[in-house]
Amino acid sequence: MKIAVIGTGYVGLVTGTCFAETGNDVTCVDIDLNKVNMLNNGEITIYEPGLEKLFIRNLKEERLHFTTDLTAGVKDAAIILLALPTPPGEDGSADMKYILGVAGDLGKILTNYKVIINKSTVPVGTADKVRAAIAENYKGGFDVVSNPEFLREGVAIDDFMKPDRVVIGTTSEKAKKVMGDLYAPFVRQGNPVIYMDERSAELTKYAANSFLATKISFMNEVARLCELLGADVDMVRRGIGSDERIGKRFLFPGIGYGGSCFPKDVQALVKSSSEVNYDFKILNSVIEVNEKQRLHLIPGIKKYFSNNLKGKRFALWGLAFKPNTDDIREAPALYMIEALTKEGATVCAFDPEGIENVKNQIGNIIDYSENQYDALKNADALIIATEWNEFRTPDFSKIAANLKNKVIFDGRNLFDLSAIRELGFHYESVGRAIIN
Ligand SMILES: NC(=O)c1ccc[n+]([C@@H]2O[C@H](COP(=O)([O-])OP(=O)(O)OC[C@H]3O[C@@H](n4cnc5c(N)ncnc54)[C@H](O)[C@@H]3O)[C@@H](O)[C@H]2O)c1
Repeated sequence: MKIAVIGTGYVGLVTGTCFAETGNDVTCVDIDLNKVNMLNNGEITIYEPGLEKLFIRNLKEERLHFTTDLTAGVKDAAIILLALPTPPGEDGSADMKYILGVAGDLGKILTNYKVIINKSTVPVGTADKVRAAIAENYKGGFDVVSNPEFLREGVAIDDFMKPDRVVIGTTSEKAKKVMGDLYAPFVRQGNPVIYMDERSAELTKYAANSFLATKISFMNEVARLCELLGADVDMVRRGIGSDERIGKRFLFPGIGYGGSCFPKDVQALVKSSSEVNYDFKILNSVIEVNEKQRLHLIPGIKKYFSNNLKGKRFALWGLAFKPNTDDIREAPALYMIEALTKEGATVCAFDPEGIENVKNQIGNIIDYSENQYDALKNADALIIATEWNEFRTPDFSKIAANLKNKVIFDGRNLFDLSAIRELGFHYESVGRAIIN
């Protein structure tokens, strides 16, 4: 099948590459000329484990193409996927200008039947709006399908190639057939393709992300309570997670959720609810808890340094919002950097993949280190913001040798309390006892 993917960011590039991998001829369109040039030259634009190999293979085999020319990109395509940004507008609602802008452009370009698939996360009713925007200028036949994407950055290739489920929102029999053929290679193990109407599909994505965010905020509140009551959140987590109805995943407390999806999607669902006069009370609390949680370590840090961070230097391990990605959108580390530097502290950060993006966003407000141990030099304490694997079993003697004080503030609960006690560190984590 000939496929066009409009928007070549995290979702677009993974989607385009994976559809090429199953033999389709894919053209990815983006307005960012620099990005398109890089991709055409075989340079990958995001860090995503496993993506580069597939990208290079499909580029070489000429199943994957990149262009800034929308008209040329969609000309021969039977399927057009939209993987465009839906960032939060000022009032928290999803900004639809990218999707509706491209839909309007498509209306001026289309000359024959095509299936237009929306992969972006969008409010209920968007399929109708896309349809109307196209129909303003194009009177021929076409279908608009809502097909939300559930991939997780860091494991996106696996998620795309072997999805838990594929959600397809359409009432058109013709589009259903096209979608079934498109996804058949990805669900050979029998994972479900769930057909529904467009509105239900659009809401499914928001409900999924909001539920996961709720789980995180719930555990962060349990962690706070553990600190006040002298319980250990790790034990509580294990105790409840073995109940199948609760499940083991997404129960880890920390310094809040971030990334390009959860914060904006929870906000957008609250806004969509308020537009139909529904006050989604739980989600308002989820947002409030998360905003506080991002700075959960700060009061402990201030207390340890007698409420004066002026001139103090912190090593910061982790910038990406989660491990195995270079995505720093809404990363808790950025909120910590802001809070620490506002108090007059300096920061030296290390992240295996996220440094370039942080440099582009905040420049030299902080120092950067090429190596996790060099970041510790002359620092008064180590702060951990992202649970990268290489931080899990570090060389504690190197940490002790490089830091001015044996002090660690851990926002991801990476270390065992008794081991840390034996090593003689001052250690503060989330929802567990402080080790002195
Ligand atoms: N990132 C994720 O993990 C993830 C997962 C599931 C769903 N989503 C959703 O998918 C959508 C895309 O997210 P993303 O993270 O890939 O965004 P992104 O910002 O990484 O990529 C969007 C791309 O679209 C391009 N673009 C903007 N306007 C364009 C236009 N008019 N024509 C062509 N290209 C244009 C941008 O240059 C950019 O390359 C969002 O709605 C997001 O919520 C994201």
